Amino acid sequence: MYHRLLWHCLLLAILLLVIEPAVRSQNAPTGPGFHGLPVRSKLADPAIESKVDALLKQMTLAEKVGQLVQYSVGTPAGPGTGREDYGEMVAKGEVGSLYNLPDVAAANHYQHIAVEKSRLHIPLINGLDVIHGYRTEFPVPLGLASTWDPDIVQRAARIAAQEASAAGVRWTFSPMVDIARDPRWGRIIEGAGEDPYLGGEIARAYVRGYQGTNLANSDSIAACAKHYVGYGAAEGGRDYNTTEISEHTLREVYLPPFYAALDEGGATVMSAFNALNGVPATANPFTLTEVLRNEWHFPGIAVSDFGAVRELIAHGIANDGETAAYRAFSAGLDMDMESSVFHEYLLKLVEDRKIPEARIDQAVRDVLRVKFALGLFDNPYTDETRENHGALPQASLDVARAAAERSFVLLRNEPVNSRRLLPLTSETQTVALIGPLADDPGAMLGSWGGRSRPGDAVTLKTALTQRLGPHGVKYAQGGDFLAATDEQINAAVEAARSADIAILALGEEPNSMTAEAASRAHLDLPGRQEELLEKVSATGKPVVLLLFSGRPLTLPWAFAHVPAVMEAWFPGIQAGPALVRTLYGESVPSGRLVLSWPRSVGQIPIYYNALDTGRPAGNIDLSHPPTNSEEKYVSRYIDELNSPQFPFAYGLSYGDFHYSVPELSTNKLSAKELAADLHTRPADAKTVLTVSVNVTNSGKVPAEEVVQLYVGLRGTSVAEPVRALKAFRRVALAPGQSDRVTFSLPPQAFVIWDVHNSYTVEPCQVRVWVSPDSAQGQPVPLEITP
Ligand code: NOJ
Repeated sequence: MYHRLLWHCLLLAILLLVIEPAVRSQNAPTGPGFHGLPVRSKLADPAIESKVDALLKQMTLAEKVGQLVQYSVGTPAGPGTGREDYGEMVAKGEVGSLYNLPDVAAANHYQHIAVEKSRLHIPLINGLDVIHGYRTEFPVPLGLASTWDPDIVQRAARIAAQEASAAGVRWTFSPMVDIARDPRWGRIIEGAGEDPYLGGEIARAYVRGYQGTNLANSDSIAACAKHYVGYGAAEGGRDYNTTEISEHTLREVYLPPFYAALDEGGATVMSAFNALNGVPATANPFTLTEVLRNEWHFPGIAVSDFGAVRELIAHGIANDGETAAYRAFSAGLDMDMESSVFHEYLLKLVEDRKIPEARIDQAVRDVLRVKFALGLFDNPYTDETRENHGALPQASLDVARAAAERSFVLLRNEPVNSRRLLPLTSETQTVALIGPLADDPGAMLGSWGGRSRPGDAVTLKTALTQRLGPHGVKYAQGGDFLAATDEQINAAVEAARSADIAILALGEEPNSMTAEAASRAHLDLPGRQEELLEKVSATGKPVVLLLFSGRPLTLPWAFAHVPAVMEAWFPGIQAGPALVRTLYGESVPSGRLVLSWPRSVGQIPIYYNALDTGRPAGNIDLSHPPTNSEEKYVSRYIDELNSPQFPFAYGLSYGDFHYSVPELSTNKLSAKELAADLHTRPADAKTVLTVSVNVTNSGKVPAEEVVQLYVGLRGTSVAEPVRALKAFRRVALAPGQSDRVTFSLPPQAFVIWDVHNSYTVEPCQVRVWVSPDSAQGQPVPLEITP
């Protein structure tokens, strides 16, 4: 007997040793955490925890596994499972979440089955990709980020949450917070661009908007920070491709927006499709357990991406579904979206003692916490009278229009007859309106259009005709996205000849050319659109080019010859009114690029917050091939400039802004003191430096300016970006008005991931810029002493 007991103890000890890495530590952080702190989660609530405990005690192992299974009921975005027995599975408690349900009736139908037929009456959590609006469609996320206006992003997300929740959706797979430096990658449209600080602020705004003041409110939906992590660095910009990211870059660039989203209370996170340094993100213990759980103490759901657990077989780290399930689950993933391998194998893996039940309990806790926090146990059903099937309320249209107006980035505005072409004046009586995007309501909704309706979208043609009357608009489509006949192009040229000016609405078809599985190797205008542009320009009529795209396009001819170019992204349902008001100056462009705009594909990846090299090109003229060794042996191309077409944060205005020299509250900081303060939360952290600048609108129209603060560190133990955004503010100024803008910086503005792999502040030389974009401004020096 005694021997048997001893033998059992020994077996248990060996088992624990083997499985220990799979079990995350609840209370003992293994690292400093981002900026040394666990995230502030709304789920960490003792009242929720005791309900979770009580329920968990009643659950069988099979019921526990059921909570970790998610299926898409509806059109799958990838290879589906072929299953249709959702009702039966839900009744048996085999499913924790459904998504892609077509409407509120379907949501309630399955919820009734879950609550009334399953043994423990555990409600489902119903998800959907509500990405930039549910029915009220706002600009695509890249456009929303280009507003540099977290407040409008939050308002848009709030409206999306109200509409989606009225349709029974309580979980959105948004925001996408992937940093992206490669516009070939189609999904660059879904994020906030290349900067981790801006990305974090925008991510926080989405979370606040979706989750509202309390997740339990019936109009709140759980946010999901995705795709964790590194997806935006897909090699070659080819979707789903492998990524190699050093821990330094991961910590300083790719992880911060995730931290921000979860620190704002984001309830869920989705793992990415890509492999990260050889380990698929779906089964990556470093990111899913060490960082997410042990450092950040994240208590919410970590769901896989669509079918990604089974894809571990294709990745080459599992030869069968069972091993795929084992690898993903033991790395720290909670829920399997669609691939059904958790459903098929988790139970067996526990029975075979490859996975401890304690690990299952952790994952189930994560799911139940979110369900309790959403109030699903008390209010599982959606009131079917809540959804608005009529006209959209004016308040929603106003936010959609304001968001669109702020998202536009004026790239070029050259004089024609000694006056800048934009804004147009009342002298412009007739406009030739040309291009595949001038009158395509569906395209205005962009990719991932939620449950938007083309009928809600107002096109440029409709809005312009309202302003100028039917005779003022000479419309000629000029062909489609990919094809045009000579007749169509000639008709467009004729329309331009008969009008005062030509407005061309050109760009990408949103669904096939942007977003998931839509990487491009060529970033020019598709089809014959460039030819159309050049032929219309050859009429000599002034041309305004409006670009609709999910990424920067490389258009060297247009940027050299077309007098006015504005990037409109895909503006949403209020596209037409927002564009017309902007063209006519009732709204002044104030959007700024959230990514560096390349001149040519060969420059990619190109981003402003890069490291310097040992051979910087400095002031060397790169516009011609090198003629001597001084010009040659520097970091450059022999056939292209190093600089982008337009730098990060660039954007013109109809106003004209002047900046004074920034004034700093001190010219010395102490590394020791700053490092000691690092463990205070950024929002509560004390101010260690204020930077003030006077900004004056010396133009003739009231306008908004996005004032930006950058910091560059030199002399640190690891090379840091030449310049990195640390703060920004939108200011509205009347003509002639000056405003003193003061930024208060916390110690975190100077933190680095150092050569010893930890967050710290080091003695170094600092340069501080306050400027209208990432390429302008004179730096002011500051020293961080030991
Ligand atoms: C795959 C996409 O990568 C992800 O972003 C999305 O949320 C899921 N499909 C669900 O539709």
